[in-house]
Order: sequence, then structure tokens, then C-alpha cells
Amino acid sequence: MLVAEPQIVLERLRGLPGGEALLDAAAERDDVELVGGAVRDLLLGRAPRELDVVVGGAGPSFAGDAAVFAGELASRLNVLAGEDVTAVNAHERFITATVRWDGGQIDIAAARRERYPAPGALPEVEPASPAEDLLRRDFTVNAIAVTLGGERPGEASLHAAPDALEDLRAGRLRVLHDASFRDDPTRLLRMARYAARLGFAVEQRTATLAREAVAARALDTVSGARIGAELRLALGEPDAVGALAALDDLGLLTALHPRLRLDRDALERALALLPDDGRPDLLALACLTLPLALPADRRSRDLRSVDGGVSGHPKPEIVALLDRWDFPAGDRDRVAAAATAVPRLIEELPGAERPSALREAALGVPVEGVALGGALEGGASTGVVERVGGEFPVRHAARHWLTEIRHVRLRITGDDLIAAGIPEGPEIGRRLERVLKLRLDGELADGREAELQAALEPARA
Ligand code: CTP
Repeated sequence: MLVAEPQIVLERLRGLPGGEALLDAAAERDDVELVGGAVRDLLLGRAPRELDVVVGGAGPSFAGDAAVFAGELASRLNVLAGEDVTAVNAHERFITATVRWDGGQIDIAAARRERYPAPGALPEVEPASPAEDLLRRDFTVNAIAVTLGGERPGEASLHAAPDALEDLRAGRLRVLHDASFRDDPTRLLRMARYAARLGFAVEQRTATLAREAVAARALDTVSGARIGAELRLALGEPDAVGALAALDDLGLLTALHPRLRLDRDALERALALLPDDGRPDLLALACLTLPLALPADRRSRDLRSVDGGVSGHPKPEIVALLDRWDFPAGDRDRVAAAATAVPRLIEELPGAERPSALREAALGVPVEGVALGGALEGGASTGVVERVGGEFPVRHAARHWLTEIRHVRLRITGDDLIAAGIPEGPEIGRRLERVLKLRLDGELADGREAELQAALEPARA
């Protein structure tokens, strides 16, 4: 239920990490406002993801104010909340500052107007009035501000862009002006995220403007790093699948790369298979990029002809795409390895009846890849495999690997073999591997002794 009472915002703010210190630091000033997603969420009775604050009015003298207020806030946090502020960072170009501590972060910006030197470029900013500051924003529901201090401390007032409160009540996403998506096409991605998270509908005119921007390839004007940052936010949403589906509905996945594809059912099945040590965000990304690991000719049934499917080299197209989007190298490689392995897993897992064969097929593949492979069986939509006699052997094998087989360990180690007289070197690894296979396939008696004995037997030809 929406309560458009600024006082309620203050009360709810007081209970949030850093809220008390923020109100205290703002109390002596009449130019500090809470704004953006935090106000939207507090009015909706939701927990805000972070706090955004605007300080100052028009005039160049206010430009440094974000940094000054950040300093005041940091000392209040130290004194009042006993928080150890880890960083106060000021960004002069954007007249913003950030206060960060263990329990949270507050972003502070001087009130500004923005000018986009070119579509998709970062804006040039200059100090402006708080009213103008609201109008530069992405969606009306994010253009509501509540004053935190003032002549009568504790009495807040609320300022909003036209339509903002009505849109918040109605659950509607509306841009503030017709050039919004052209100026900053990342707002297209933000819109999908908000639509999924808040369950808001896109207002009609806004939907038209979004379609026009997508058709005009507005996203091509944005740097890969900014696209990547938005994608990471979408993948990190509590309902990431919903956020990706919203991106897909808006035609944004294909706009980002013509071969990205969301198989929502498969992704949900894969997420259900993913163990606790898996990364849902990387699994979702592997699912999206999977078509890049499949043969261009979808009718091809010979998956072994897929580049990398056998050799295991991650598909270079996936690596290049994730590089363009500035993903950390570790995440990039895990996604590329996962997606690349899927066609081979789908081929090999059904035939891997013995646990040792399962290990041979799945060892070294990230858990996200195994979960995705397991989810794709019967995935007629991908054209990859057909159901086999109504059974789901790939899923069964994937689950068996993920929940049991990959955790099986021998009781003996290389040290035991060295102590028993086997010289150090690759032979140790070969013997341990041989015994592990026997253990997995139930061909060894229980216990350490049986393992050691089997390991010390001369290798059979
Ligand atoms: N904003 C904008 N255009 C962007 C990014 C941000 O107009 N491309 C404005 C919006 O008013 C937004 C505010 O800056 O509300 C803060 O942005 P951000 O912290 O990214 O989002 P939140 O509003 O905090 O929303 P949430 O964190 O819930 O996604």
C-alpha cells in the first residue's frame, strides 16, 4: 500500500542502516533530500537497495557540497552508530560522493542538470535546482524527493516530478521526456529490471519510445562496460529470471547480441538443479549465451562437430562478448566453459551409466554447465536432443554428478602411496585415479586398507 506521507519515509528511514546518522547530519541543513529508489521503495513499504541523497541548490558554490556533506555524514556514522567508515570517495566530475562502511553505503550527489553530449555518452553535469534535478531522472517513480532537515526538523516535505505519485500508486513506469532512452539507453535495461522487480507496467507512450529506441539501435551507442554493469544488476535481482524475461520481452536481448536467447523453462529447470556452491547469475548467463556454443545450423544433429565441444576450449565468441561487457576474467571463463561444455554433456551423459564414466564426462565442467546440460534434455526448443523413451537420462546423470559423485573422495592420499614406496611423480596421480574409479563403481571393499591395496597393485596393461 502506498502511503504518500513524507513523515512515514522519515520514520522508515530511521530504521535502516545509516538512517539515524543521515537524519542527524541533515537536521541542521535545509538542502538535503532523500531521492530516487529509496523514496520509491519506502513509500511502497519495500526495503530500499541503497540510499541516494541530493544536497544543495543552484550555483557553482554548491558543487563541492556533496563531498562536504559526505564528510559530515561519515563523522556522524562514526560517532552515532559506532560504524567504521571505510571510505569517503568524491567524484569531482560528477559532483558526487560515496560514504561506505561495513553495513552499507550512501550515495550523495549535488543537485544537477545533465546534458548528453552524444546519445549514449556519459552526461556533462552542472549544479542546478533540486526541482531540475528531479526532471533529469529516468522514470517518474524515481523522481520523488523527501527533505530530511529544514526549518522544522523532523517535518519532512515531499517533491515529485509531474505524474510521479500517480504512477507510483498505479504501478506504472513512465519516462520524464521523449529523449530519455536516446540520451541514456541503459534506461531500457533499467526499465526491464524495475518492471520485473516491482511488477510495474510500462506506460503506453513509454513503451512506444522504448520500441523506437530499440529499433534505432540506441544500445549500440553505449559502452560495453555500462551494458555489462546493467546486465550484472539484472542477473543479481532476486527474480533474475523475471528480469531477463522482461529484457527479452522488450527485444533487448537480441539487441545486445542477435544470438542471445532466453529459454526460460530450461533456465528454471537448471536453477533447480544447481547446487549451493553454484552461481545462479553465471548459470543464467551461460543459458543466454548457449546458442553461441551450438552449431550455427540448428538442424545439425552431430554435436561432436561443434567447435570446442570435444576439445573443451571455451567458445571464443562467448569469451569476446563477456570481455566486451567487462565481466571479471574468472566469471567470464566459468560461463564460457559452462556453455561450451553443454552440447558435449548432452551427448555423453546419457551413456555414462557407470559413475566413473560420469566423472570422465563431467569432471572439470563448472557446476553451472552440468546443471544447464541436465536441464536441456528433451529441450525440443533448442533442437539439441530428443527425449529418450520418456526418460530424462541427462537430467538424472547431471543430478547424480552434482549431488553425489563429484563429492566422493578416497581415504588415501598421495602421501600414503609415497610412504608405501611409490616414487613421487605422475604415477601417483594415475594410481589414485584408478582407485577412485573402482571406488565410484563399487568395485572396492569398504575402507582405507582396500584402497591402499588396490593402489599398490601394479598397473594392469
Ligand atoms: N538515474 C537515472 N538514470 C540512470 C541511472 C540513475 O535517472 N541511468 C537516477 C534515478 O532517479 C535513480 C537514481 O538515479 O532513482 C539512483 O540510481 P540507482 O542507484 O542506480 O537506482 P535506484 O534508484 O537506487 O534504484 P534501485 O537501486 O532500486 O535499482
